[in-house]
Amino acid sequence: MEKKVLHILACLGIVALLAAGARAAVTVSSEATAVNRLVVHADQGKDTISPEIYGHFAEHLGRCVYEGFWVGEDSPIPNVRGIRTDVVEALKRLDIPALRWPGGCFADEYHWKEGIGPRDQRPSMVNTHWGMVKETNAFGTHEFLDLCEQLGCEAYIAGNVGSGTIEEMQDWVEYMTFDGDSEMANLRRRNGREKPWRVKYFGVGNENWGCGGNMTPEYYADLYKCYQTYVRSYSGNAVVKVACGPSSDDYRWLTTVLERAAHHMDAISLHHYVRASGNWTDKGSATQFDEGEWFVLMKNTLTIYDLLKKSTEIMDRFDRRGRIGLFVDEWGTWWDAEPGTNPAFLYQQNTMRDAVSAGIFLNAFNEHCDRVRMGNIAQTNNVLQAMILTDGPRMIVTPTYHVFEMYKVHQGATYLPSDLTCRGYRRGNQELPSLIASASRAKSGAIHITVCNLDAQKPAEFVCELQGAQAGRVSGRVLTAQTMNAHNTFGEPEAVKPVELNGLTVQNGAIRGTLPARSVSVLTVQ
Ligand code: AHR
Repeated sequence: MEKKVLHILACLGIVALLAAGARAAVTVSSEATAVNRLVVHADQGKDTISPEIYGHFAEHLGRCVYEGFWVGEDSPIPNVRGIRTDVVEALKRLDIPALRWPGGCFADEYHWKEGIGPRDQRPSMVNTHWGMVKETNAFGTHEFLDLCEQLGCEAYIAGNVGSGTIEEMQDWVEYMTFDGDSEMANLRRRNGREKPWRVKYFGVGNENWGCGGNMTPEYYADLYKCYQTYVRSYSGNAVVKVACGPSSDDYRWLTTVLERAAHHMDAISLHHYVRASGNWTDKGSATQFDEGEWFVLMKNTLTIYDLLKKSTEIMDRFDRRGRIGLFVDEWGTWWDAEPGTNPAFLYQQNTMRDAVSAGIFLNAFNEHCDRVRMGNIAQTNNVLQAMILTDGPRMIVTPTYHVFEMYKVHQGATYLPSDLTCRGYRRGNQELPSLIASASRAKSGAIHITVCNLDAQKPAEFVCELQGAQAGRVSGRVLTAQTMNAHNTFGEPEAVKPVELNGLTVQNGAIRGTLPARSVSVLTVQ
């Protein structure tokens, strides 16, 4: 039995066929003898994968900013102007393209003027969203933009609409980016920064349907138009203005905001978190789970394909030429906080399950790169699906970090459409594709193919053919582990790390190999 699932979920008996985003087809075959076959259309590439799809997000939440990035200049932890060196170096190895800050929900109660000037004179505030803890404002605008310069990445700032004024937002942009003689630019100079910074991305509010003010889409759209008027492009700094979009499939929010304000935005956001349970009060453990929960996470992660397809269809109605970008500026897995930690700090471990989920998300973003121009996984350090976990001076990287490192070859590359036929990954009366892939051509001419094997038990033999190109040499790296919940700890920091994918061959132009169960792989074809 063969089912065309243009993308992606096949439920036995229900036969849910989700219509194609058109650029990559997945066919699930239930035949025991089915061959996993990927055909890459190397002659059909036209869209560039925006590097920012591989972006990150750091909020004043738990230990993401404080401890994760900021340790202060007097810390025994090696740092450059208070920002820890080990974390910066680790993120540079990902070619981190963009960093979103200061929230999140925190953004709509952040008053930037409290975070500038001499640190010992900055007022403190209460972080009401995340544990009612004291926010010292030690890490503010100068520190964040210094961090971006140390990382060599674009700054993406989320402005305060929920509890801030238009004047406050206008002043912030002027403070950061104006080169001339003005009150704000001169204040910046007095605070030690002569030249303006480059701030490419500016979000006008965050989750204004919820923590950012509990607004209706009509009300927000009108406010957006007003606030964004004063987000100026000073001194050659062309700001990409980002409107607040929906949570997951709230298509009414997306439609209404576009209907009212499409002409005034360069991008609109989308937030999509996934977990293995149906409710937010019991999200499940990050590390203690069975194959049933693994399967549900895979199934829930695959919803990103339908979500992107439907969201881009709505955007096409209001923006036929594709001028407005879709910024998936918060995404990832969300589990119960690690036992013994402050639940408001959202600290969670990160296993092979998170890694495969991340690989699926990133393949989906690649596939929709004609609209998806930014992605920011939540969050960089010590919060949710983090790249990095810290414990005092110690730092480890997570399986999800390794996925970003393996996928960085897609940044700025040309997306190549592909067709995949694969075996189903079946549990009970449900069936998912066992493989999810995407491909791109780098400027060097090399073709990169990233493939996730969603099946927790079975390896997948596969064949890959290139149309319009000749496969010469192939090499590969794979991230996998003996168990579904394998993860790195401070005691065993390299329990999960990529290794060479052995056994790849090229015969008559076709690449053959075996992808281990529960794995993420990257192939490089020269
Ligand atoms: O990433 C954690 C929170 O999730 C963010 O603050 C908010 O925007 C979202 O609800």
